[in-house]
Amino acid sequence: MRLLIKNGTVVNSDNKFISDVLCVDNKIVEIANSIELSDDDSEIIDASGCFVFPGGIDPHVHMNLPSKAGFSSDDFNSGSKAALWGGTTSIIDFVTPHRSQFLDEAIHQRLTEASNCNTSFSFHISPVKWHDDMDGQIKQCIDLGFTSFKVYTAYKDTIGISDDDLLKVMKSVGKHGGILLIHCELGDAIDSNKSELTKQGKRSPFYHPLSRPSYTESQAVKNAIELAYEACCPIYIVHVSTQESLSYIRDAQKRGQLVYAETCPQYLLFDDSRYNGKFIDTASFVMSPPLRKKEDIDALWVALADGTIHTVGTDHCPFSIKQKAEGIDDFRKIPNGVGGVEHRLQLLFTYGVVSGKITINKFVELTSTNAARIFGLYPKKGIIDVGADADIVIWNPEEKSMISSTTHHQNTDINIYDGMEIVGSPEYVILDGKLIKEGNSFSNELSVGRLLKRK
Ligand code: URP
Ligand code: ZN
Repeated sequence: MRLLIKNGTVVNSDNKFISDVLCVDNKIVEIANSIELSDDDSEIIDASGCFVFPGGIDPHVHMNLPSKAGFSSDDFNSGSKAALWGGTTSIIDFVTPHRSQFLDEAIHQRLTEASNCNTSFSFHISPVKWHDDMDGQIKQCIDLGFTSFKVYTAYKDTIGISDDDLLKVMKSVGKHGGILLIHCELGDAIDSNKSELTKQGKRSPFYHPLSRPSYTESQAVKNAIELAYEACCPIYIVHVSTQESLSYIRDAQKRGQLVYAETCPQYLLFDDSRYNGKFIDTASFVMSPPLRKKEDIDALWVALADGTIHTVGTDHCPFSIKQKAEGIDDFRKIPNGVGGVEHRLQLLFTYGVVSGKITINKFVELTSTNAARIFGLYPKKGIIDVGADADIVIWNPEEKSMISSTTHHQNTDINIYDGMEIVGSPEYVILDGKLIKEGNSFSNELSVGRLLKRK
């Protein structure tokens, strides 16, 4: 199977040039000017005026996540279709075992749930409790190609990890050459804030951010950085939302510690004024950490541009209006999370590149290259190069559209980006050498995505 992309502007994290790109089967085999093919059965796409990006990699999604209000509303099938529609060809989700479950058993269960995923995919593995044989289990995950792990310092009553266990997990992950993702929030302080507020009758979504003030994130970030230093463990801090967290991360990076950082479009585009208003409008924005202040948003954009933040993931975890309404009388019962896997590239292109906050190369770095590098997929993914996987997005930079919950592909009746204007569109999406999306339709029968074995 041959696919020839002609006259596009190839953009990688460190270069930009006009060229043809030839894919054979699932690989890029040639990048050159004026590639000509003699056979008739090759597919040819004219990409004049378009950018040719490496397929997006979203390193933070939660398909089919169990919550007290039911599962997050996108399963692997619907969520991965939405991802492809927006130019994301690989996703990394999570395996979260029960406290006493073996990691490999939980991986097998999650693989069944992901068996109808249409993108390439992998999982970060979450040790939720230390067991005597956990060190061996972590090593086994790495040998299987699951080289990243995730812990939560919030959610102490369900999946949160104790400080003692966190240090043990860090030492083990570091020793075996893995990387640890950390959801940094002070779980105990938040739990006591939540009890105090609700005792006072403060139960609307307005109080959600007040229960999780800025310091509950930044202090947890500081603690995690100190523990990781002691444990010699590379860490990746998910969904960074505050200016103060960034200053701890920056200091650690300056000392040479391996501390990577991610933020998400919701923290770059909205502030905490979204918690003023009617229940469903405000409940739609209930996520953890919560939205912050204008100064935090400005600091996040600076940190994207200067390299303190390495990736933009989505933390895609949508719920329906009905599910959010579980917390109509008590914000603690509102399922936490928002959708966005479909819009990550368009939002970052419009509000980052077009608005002049980041360069087009930085856009590629943040949406694809750095996730590939950090999570062991580079140089098969994250770059347009000979020998790389043929995961490619042909981007029309002129196309204008508007996000709407009535036209999106995510399985939810909520879209926090509803009504936002977008510039730029993934005109063609190619996964493993196959043309998946063309203009406004999926072009091929979608096939099941590949489980990625990571280094
Ligand atoms: O509110 C959020 N972030 N929901 C998804 C689960 C998590 O905490 O990452
Ligand atoms: Zn998350």
